[in-house]
Amino acid sequence: MIKIAPSILAADLLNLEEEVKLIDKLGAEYIHIDVMDGHYVPNISFGPEIVKKLKKITKKKLDVHLMIKPVLPYINKFIEYGADIISFHPEADDKSNQIIEILSKSNCKPAIAIHPNVKFEEIIHFLPKVNLVVVMTVVPGFGGQAFLDSELRKIKDLYKFRKENKLNFEIEVDGGINKETAEKCKNHGADVLVAGTYIFSQNENKYKNLIDSLR
Ligand code: DX5
Ligand code: ZN
Repeated sequence: MIKIAPSILAADLLNLEEEVKLIDKLGAEYIHIDVMDGHYVPNISFGPEIVKKLKKITKKKLDVHLMIKPVLPYINKFIEYGADIISFHPEADDKSNQIIEILSKSNCKPAIAIHPNVKFEEIIHFLPKVNLVVVMTVVPGFGGQAFLDSELRKIKDLYKFRKENKLNFEIEVDGGINKETAEKCKNHGADVLVAGTYIFSQNENKYKNLIDSLR
């Protein structure tokens, strides 16, 4: 079954605890945390403290997506505070191999995220070393953007590469996910769908159906 990772970027931050407990209860597998630094992306969001706090209120996997440059100086704090998966954009730090190595030796799984401007061929060498790959289907920085169909190809390429090389990383898709685009991602081979606006901008009573509708 496809996994769902609600992105708290779109949650009601004044009621974050209730929001997270609700999606937890309703069966989301991961909680997606978008970390933005106003440098790698033109927006600022959360820092490591949010991971520390969320760890206290949910047992779901904390899926931290770092949209920061550089990456290496901040990795240890996120690990220490309880991140379960950390994805980063390899072009944002020339120490990518070291970052993956640190993550591999920790309790946190290493992952990379592919910006729409980065080609599949450019990240192939990381694939044997990561547990998850995030295919960005919007230009990172903001929630609520339209899904880029042009990126579907990368899901297919990753699926094929994984099979041919007997690897087992998960393929996560992030950006513009709704009922229609979820179907396309699933058909191309996605394992995990990140959804912010689609899940959180609706009436609370609908959360269950929304998570189910994406599956
Ligand atoms: C975009 C973030 C996404 C975002 C998704 O930079 O990485 O995770 O929260 O939001 P929606 O689902 O609204 O496109
Ligand atoms: Zn994200």
